Amino acid sequence: MLPRKLDYATPVNGARSRPVVNFRAVKGSSTAVLRHGGSSAVLPSVLTFAVIVASGGLLLMIEKGMLNSMDTPSPLRGRSGGGPSEYRDHRDHHDPGEDTDLQILQEIRNRTMRTMCGQKGMPRDVWSLSPLQRRTLLQHVLVNDQHRFLYCYVPKVACSNWKRVLKVLTGALGGVDAKIKMDHHSDLLFLSSLKPEEIRYRLGHYFKFLFVREPMERLLSAYKNKFGEMEAYQRRYGVEIVKRYRKAPGGGGKAKGPPPKGDDVTFTEFVRYLLDEDADRMNEHWMPAYNLCQPCAVSYDFVGSYEHLQRDADYVLRRVGAPERVRFPARQAWYKPVTAETLHYYLCGLPQKLLKDLLPKYILDFSLFTYPLPNTTAQHCRH
Ligand SMILES: *[C@@H]1O[C@H](CO)[C@@H](O)[C@H](O)[C@H]1NC(C)=O
Ligand SMILES: *[C@@H]1O[C@H](CO)[C@@H](O)[C@H](O)[C@H]1NC(C)=O
Repeated sequence: MLPRKLDYATPVNGARSRPVVNFRAVKGSSTAVLRHGGSSAVLPSVLTFAVIVASGGLLLMIEKGMLNSMDTPSPLRGRSGGGPSEYRDHRDHHDPGEDTDLQILQEIRNRTMRTMCGQKGMPRDVWSLSPLQRRTLLQHVLVNDQHRFLYCYVPKVACSNWKRVLKVLTGALGGVDAKIKMDHHSDLLFLSSLKPEEIRYRLGHYFKFLFVREPMERLLSAYKNKFGEMEAYQRRYGVEIVKRYRKAPGGGGKAKGPPPKGDDVTFTEFVRYLLDEDADRMNEHWMPAYNLCQPCAVSYDFVGSYEHLQRDADYVLRRVGAPERVRFPARQAWYKPVTAETLHYYLCGLPQKLLKDLLPKYILDFSLFTYPLPNTTAQHCRH
C-alpha cells in the first residue's frame, strides 16, 4: 500500500504546492536507474535501498532549504489526531522553524519505513521472523504495563537513560538522576520473559517506540567506548580481532611476538571484523538497529532520534502519560559525544573500499531511518 498523501502539504501560500515526498516517483526512478545500469537480472535489494536513501536525503534537504527561506509561521498549527500530528502539537518554547523541520523528518521517516517495509521479502510480523531474530528482538523490547508502552532499546542511543526512566516509572528508582551504577537487567521487564499471548496483546495494544542514531556515529561510539575503555571487551573481542586482522609489519603472515592484549584495536581492524560478522549474530553494541528492533515486523508508533534526543524523549514521555515530574535525564557530565570532526577523521581514515563494503551491512539503518550516506570522497576528506 502506498502511503497516503501528506496532509500538511496543502498549500497555504503557494510555496508548498507539491507533496514533500512522492514515493511513486522515487520508486519509479530507482527502477529506471537500475535498469539503465545494464543488469536486468535480480539486483541486490541493497541497491534499491541505496537509491531510495539518496532520494530521501535529497528531498529532505530541498525541503529544508525551502523552509529556511520561508519566514511565514508554520501552517501546521491546530491539528489533532494520531501520529505525527500529535508530534506537531507538542511545542512548548521551541523555534517553529525547527519544529517544522522535525515534523518533516518524522513524516519522511514514517513514509520511508512504510514503503520499504511493504516491499516483498520484508517481515510482516514478529512471528514471521527466524527464531534467532525473534529472540534478539524480544530481548531488546522493554515493557511498561502501567503506561502501556514498549521501548526497543538500541545500545549507544541513550538506552541507559531510558532504562533509568523505566525504573523511575515503576518505582524501582527514586529519580532519574539517582546516583547509581546502571544495572541493565534488574527491575526491568523484557518482552522475552512473557508468554506468546501476552506478547501478542502488548504488540497489538501498546505504544511502541525506539530511538535511532546516525549508524556510523553509533558504530564509532561503540568502538571508542568498548575498545578504548572496557577491558572485558578488549579480552573478549580485541584479542581475536588483532589475531585475525593484524599483519606483521613489512607484510606477510601474522604479527609475531607476545600474544596481543586486544587493547589497541584500530578502527580499520574493527571494521574488517564487522565485515566478516553476520548482522543477526553481532554483539548488540554494533548490531544494526534494524536487526535489534525489526521495525518492519513491529509497527512502531514513534521513532525518535539521538540528534533530537531531549525533545523526542519529552514527546514520548508526555505521550505515554508519564507524570510531569519524570523528565528525561540530561547527558551525564562525563559523557564525551562523538563530534562531526571525530567522525570525519575516522571515516576518512578508513580505506575507501572498506567503507564501501561496510555500508551495505548498515544500509537498512541508513535508509529506513533516513540518514544520508556518509560522504567520503577524496575531495570531502581533504578538509
Ligand atoms: C506513521 O504515521 C501514522 C499515521 O499518522 C501513525 O499512526 C504512526 O504512528 C506513525 N509511525 C511512526 C513510526 O512515526
Ligand atoms: C561530497 O563532498 C564534496 C566536497 O565537500 C562535494 O563536492 C560533493 O558534492 C559531495 N558528494 C556527495 C555525494 O554529497
